[in-house]
Amino acid sequence: MKGLHVVGVSHAYGDKQVLDNASLMIPAGEVVCLLGPSGSGKTTLLRLAGGLERLQKGRIAIDDEIVADKDTHVEPEHRGIGLMFQDYALFPHLSIIDNVTFGLFGQTKDQAHRRAMDMLDQVGMTRHATSYPHMLSGGQQQRVALARALAPEPKVLLLDEPFSGLDTNMRGQIREQTLSVLKASGVATVMVTHDPEEAMFMADRIKILGANGRILQAGRPHEIYYHPRHEFVAKLFGLMNRFEGVVKGGCVEIPIGKIRAKGMGEGRKVEVLVRPEGVILESDSGEGSGGGTPVEVISTHLLGHDNIVRVRLTEKAGDENGKELYVRIHHTFEPELSKRITAAVDPEYAFIFPMDDLDDTAGDGHTPSARSEAAQ
Ligand SMILES: Nc1ncnc2c1ncn2[C@@H]1O[C@H](COP(=O)(O)OP(=O)(O)OP(=O)(O)O)[C@@H](O)[C@H]1O
Ligand SMILES: [Mg+2]
Repeated sequence: MKGLHVVGVSHAYGDKQVLDNASLMIPAGEVVCLLGPSGSGKTTLLRLAGGLERLQKGRIAIDDEIVADKDTHVEPEHRGIGLMFQDYALFPHLSIIDNVTFGLFGQTKDQAHRRAMDMLDQVGMTRHATSYPHMLSGGQQQRVALARALAPEPKVLLLDEPFSGLDTNMRGQIREQTLSVLKASGVATVMVTHDPEEAMFMADRIKILGANGRILQAGRPHEIYYHPRHEFVAKLFGLMNRFEGVVKGGCVEIPIGKIRAKGMGEGRKVEVLVRPEGVILESDSGEGSGGGTPVEVISTHLLGHDNIVRVRLTEKAGDENGKELYVRIHHTFEPELSKRITAAVDPEYAFIFPMDDLDDTAGDGHTPSARSEAAQ
């Protein structure tokens, strides 16, 4: 297979086990994002793939050629990889064009210059070819670093939090541009990020790491967002509304509706997490005609393209009366004071996890979920 193949890699620093039997497969042309808590071994995994760290156990292949196993250690410069870490690490004493030509061995000066200018063109930086790194903004330096990493046409590109030094606006622009350059190059890319939204934007597939580099869940962004199999994965994407309940008749009842708890035994104590966009608010004109649970609006916060609305359960919520919920609304929300507002759950955004199950496959206190579905 063309691309990067990491098989059963374990790694320890002294007696500290950092990776335990981690595996990854990134086909050429795909962007795979690694998301995971600090210290879960993401950088270590990239350093091993890049040959900056000696492999202790397992096997790493690039385009079907073994670059590291118990008998092999191909040096980084012979692996056909491009590296880009958090600090762009441009050489301060070299001009931009010289930074980009730096890694182009085995080419005439003219060829190297043409290739470097072509890469600078792809990232929109030809105007700055004769500038020096300190004359560029963070975003511009990042683009040059990308051009430098891709200039030698690597088979695999390893990116470790490449956008973390940039402000929000710049990040948005740069990651869009980076993605189109990556897609045009057909390189296999592994990108580490702390930002789940960034992973959703960039990745063909996302891998969520737990402790010791164990993969809690891997899948396409849609799958990770809509079918999180672990509480940890569900909570990665920000605010959640949390309820507790018990499975009865195959369903769990929460104050804003009933959700089918497929695969959960009767009487099981469960936790229900509902994304803010999974709470549907409606103006209730008639007497309880909407069928939702009455709520009182506490505040609305405009977040640019959508609103976060805080509401409080006011009645019909039993023990949960007074509980506050977060609601995400993708349009302007100006509740009319005269009208009653009700809330109901959209089961597509609700996830159920057992609370009494200590048999935890991830080893970090998170339990697998059931798929929730609408109850009739
Ligand atoms: N050279 C080293 N020597 C000793 N311990 C190390 C070394 N490099 C990393 N570690 C330890 O290994 C663990 C994993 O580190 P690593 O940098 O791979 O994590 P990470 O997932 O990249 O974290 P972050 O998200 O904070 O960048 C950490 O506990 C770290 O302290
Ligand atoms: Mg790291």
